[in-house]
Amino acid sequence: MTSSSSAFILLLLSFQLFSSISEAVVPASETFTYVNEGDFGDYIVEYDANYRFLSPFNTPFQLCFYNTTPNAFTLALRMGTVRSESLMRWVWEANRGKPVRENATLTFGTDGNLVLADADGRVVWQTNTANKGVVGFQVLPTGNMVLHDGKGNFLWQSYDSTTDTLLVGQTLRAGGPNKLVSRLSEANNVDGPYSLVMEPKGLSMYYKSPNSPRPMLYWSSSEWFTVDQGSLTNLTLTSNPDTDEGFLYYLTFNYFTTNPTSSSNRNMAFSRYNNTLSYLRLGIDGNLRFYTYNPNVQGVAWELVYTFLDRDSMEGECQLPGRCGNFGLCEDSQCVACPTPNGLSGWSKDCEVKKVTSCKASDFGYYKLEGVDHFMIKYTRGDGGTKQSDCESKCSKDCKCMGYFYHTDSSRCWIAYDLKTLTRVGNSTHLAYIKTPNK
Ligand SMILES: *[C@@H]1O[C@H](CO)[C@@H](O)[C@H](O)[C@H]1NC(C)=O
Ligand SMILES: *[C@@H]1O[C@H](CO)[C@@H](O)[C@H](O)[C@H]1NC(C)=O
Ligand SMILES: *[C@@H]1O[C@H](CO)[C@@H](O)[C@H](O)[C@H]1NC(C)=O
Ligand SMILES: *[C@@H]1O[C@H](CO)[C@@H](O)[C@H](O)[C@H]1NC(C)=O
Repeated sequence: MTSSSSAFILLLLSFQLFSSISEAVVPASETFTYVNEGDFGDYIVEYDANYRFLSPFNTPFQLCFYNTTPNAFTLALRMGTVRSESLMRWVWEANRGKPVRENATLTFGTDGNLVLADADGRVVWQTNTANKGVVGFQVLPTGNMVLHDGKGNFLWQSYDSTTDTLLVGQTLRAGGPNKLVSRLSEANNVDGPYSLVMEPKGLSMYYKSPNSPRPMLYWSSSEWFTVDQGSLTNLTLTSNPDTDEGFLYYLTFNYFTTNPTSSSNRNMAFSRYNNTLSYLRLGIDGNLRFYTYNPNVQGVAWELVYTFLDRDSMEGECQLPGRCGNFGLCEDSQCVACPTPNGLSGWSKDCEVKKVTSCKASDFGYYKLEGVDHFMIKYTRGDGGTKQSDCESKCSKDCKCMGYFYHTDSSRCWIAYDLKTLTRVGNSTHLAYIKTPNK
């Protein structure tokens, strides 16, 4: 082939490439701009929010703006229909922590970018899909919002961004969206202190204290499944009918690992009806729950089918860092006492540990509690082979240490940067030493 003919072919190819991309624009009839204005919806939605619904919907999912404090709106996907007369819940959101005001706009232009801009035009959130071949936008019946190309491939999907909720069909990925983060409170839609993270060997839940350099582990999926070889690459929440039992539908984690022999699935909960419309939620309280939606049951379409840390499940409520407030002793999922330097007193929400403000060793001491564990002890090994005096001096030298935990039988030491909920265990070899000011 001569060089001029190959150059011609190259020219032809690049022309074809160019024309196929330039064809890939969103037809004008598919574009939209929604302005956040007008009357609020009439029905009861989660967090007691005000909301305005937008046209894109696919039963039972609908795109909305909602606010829990005036003039601070979140673009979100609502799950639940008017027909079911049940509470409607928020299962996906675009702009947590970056609310928009009245007259904010959601625009899907011919370039294929989906853009949330505040009233002054400032872009708050976008899909970054301008001129990448997007030809359409859809809300799928699975609750996935997608931007697709001419062949139906998804160039962007809402499933790839998570806040505190994982819908059936949604995937956590190593190097992708790999965690859920709790919401701070009903009224305040910013990141809360709890997270559920997909790690190489399983799922873990962490509590992030303002006082702690690192998040503290309070739950791990190790009692549900273990990844012996390789590490997790992805984990998908699925709904699986059990053909043997009939009328039994499992909510299952399907997971893949770098070593194919470790890839597997684990049934986590079940219901007696088709639970394809379900989600996993990391709650404001740091608990993890499965909710199913059965629109055939009017008024009570939602069912809480499983709570991970619950008096009726494998792990009691005492593992929840905030179960007994800022400081309290928990036993059998109940808050039973408030530990003070003068012994145990009745528990109340206001139980607090006395603040040690000085770092000078002469300004503070410790009081001892017997048969007590910290929530992090169950899933972290602590420092083994440590003498108790070394454990104590480690805490004393660290201004942020609020106390230490020591197992005399195994010589293990844990330094605690936050106390929160302590658990009573029937074992006098488990000791807690709480830092307290000398006067
Ligand atoms: C929203 O825009 C409309 C039309 O421009 C205007 O009349 C209205 O006052 C605006 N609302 C707010 C709260 O700024
Ligand atoms: C998960 O990973 C496996 C193996 O790497 C892959 O075949 C599969 O498509 C992935 N699933 C999802 C939903 O990403
Ligand atoms: C369960 O419900 C989903 C969505 O409503 C539907 O697509 C699916 O076919 C149903 N599965 C069975 C086994 O009936
Ligand atoms: C206390 O815990 C240790 C392990 O940490 C165990 O070996 C021992 O049997 C326990 N003692 C009681 C009285 O439960």
